Amino acid sequence: TTYKIGVIVGSISSTSINRRLANALTKLAPQADLELTEIPISALPFYSADNDAAIPAEAAEFKAGVESADGVIIVTPEYNRSVPGVLKNALDTASRPWGDNSFAGKPSAVIGISVGPIRTAVAQQHLRSILSFLASPELAQPEGYLQLTDGLIDEDGTVNDESTVEFLVSWLKAVHTHVAKTLSPVS
Ligand code: FNR
Repeated sequence: TTYKIGVIVGSISSTSINRRLANALTKLAPQADLELTEIPISALPFYSADNDAAIPAEAAEFKAGVESADGVIIVTPEYNRSVPGVLKNALDTASRPWGDNSFAGKPSAVIGISVGPIRTAVAQQHLRSILSFLASPELAQPEGYLQLTDGLIDEDGTVNDESTVEFLVSWLKAVHTHVAKTLSPVS
């Protein structure tokens, strides 16, 4: 089965290296029988409970994007040892109004790339904590911790290192298995 996967990029930087990683995953996805489409976050207003009664159109569109996907991949940078505020804002937006949490039961997987040696590991732990609270079944393994070295990934998502390509394809295959198991649990 080909699964439709929504991709959330946790950076709105015009030169985002996590967008490069998302582009790489999108190119490699067919090898794992996945179709990746971005669910954009840059137009989202700051979440406020004031708007719960009349959800902003951008927020409604974002929630619909999460809900209509078979699963969601979150590609996140690490900012100050956590997730960027724009990503937290998107997750808060998806989680509300109360009782209408778009992530409930939605399979998810997290991955990220940094220029530093910690490789977004701390941010991803925070993200896993948030996704647990949102009742989103997460891919546990393999973890996806990448460090950008010179020329590793081009802006269009071309990966110039064979072992990294192999890792990303194996990670995507694990996402496929995770989505399949979550959507069709053994009865
Ligand atoms: C960073 N960076 C960073 N890197 C890291 O590994 N751990 C961290 O805690 C931080 N903190 C941090 C805070 C802020 C405000 C910025 C702007 C950057 C460096 C970060 O890995 C680098 O800027 C990446 O390019 C960010 O990913 P995007 O936005 O390019 O996808």
